[in-house]
Amino acid sequence: MKNILEASFMAEMIRTATLMYNHGWDERNGGNISLMLDEKDTAEYLDPEKVIRTIPTGFKAPELEGKVFLVTGTGKYFKNVQIAPEVNLGIVRLRDQGQQADLLWGFADGGKFTSEFPAHMMSHVARLKTDPENRVVMHCHPANLLAMTYVHSLDEREFTRTLWQMCTECVVVFPDGVNVLPWMLCGTNEIGEATAEKMLTARLVVWSQHGIYGAGKDLDETFGLIETAEKAAEIYMKIAHLPRLNTITDEQMHLLEKRFGIQAREGYLD
Ligand code: 13P
Ligand code: ZN
Repeated sequence: MKNILEASFMAEMIRTATLMYNHGWDERNGGNISLMLDEKDTAEYLDPEKVIRTIPTGFKAPELEGKVFLVTGTGKYFKNVQIAPEVNLGIVRLRDQGQQADLLWGFADGGKFTSEFPAHMMSHVARLKTDPENRVVMHCHPANLLAMTYVHSLDEREFTRTLWQMCTECVVVFPDGVNVLPWMLCGTNEIGEATAEKMLTARLVVWSQHGIYGAGKDLDETFGLIETAEKAAEIYMKIAHLPRLNTITDEQMHLLEKRFGIQAREGYLD
């Protein structure tokens, strides 16, 4: 078997978690990532018969039967992922309708996957319905998006339109917009189900007064999605208290739709 720490998916996961920490999105143990792996990704690195231990998930997700995920550990600090990947990350394969997770690698100190595993797995199920290429779910606590949920309306159309107006490329990067959940208790199946429901119609879901979820086909795309929304929120927080003299109009956004061949979410532009 080859050394799994040299696998490209592992290198990318470590690089992404480190970058997220460096962006200030993941203080302490804040944030979590799950990346769905193919059998062909892991074949050279893992013996699929070797189960280290089995961890109950506390929910059902029959759609994910047999699926394998590289996932961050609960209570683990993103800043430490690069120093000790085998302690801070794990690879699990779901079985028993998603109710059990067989640990194939990692969580070497006896740890387990993130407390937000329900939100991650349920979001994977939801996104795969809309986009069979989806492989990543990412959660973090970027300061400006979080700040915005204290001072801006949580209406999804209003929230999305404000972000689109903050940078020209926002509507191009997330034409499906941003869905918003009110404050809910984190780490529960309930917030998992609510997040997954919101993931059916958008790849970004804001958790008010907590953070954001993003989903995408790879780590780069998902990181870029959150990065773009957070940049827009940063601009909003810089200008929200000032008189707005100029903006990006709906007419201009329609021009962007034509130029980039995208379609803004129905009903979100006048
Ligand atoms: P975990 O340490 O369990 O991943 O939780 C971090 C977090 O961001 C909770 O929402
Ligand atoms: Zn969180």
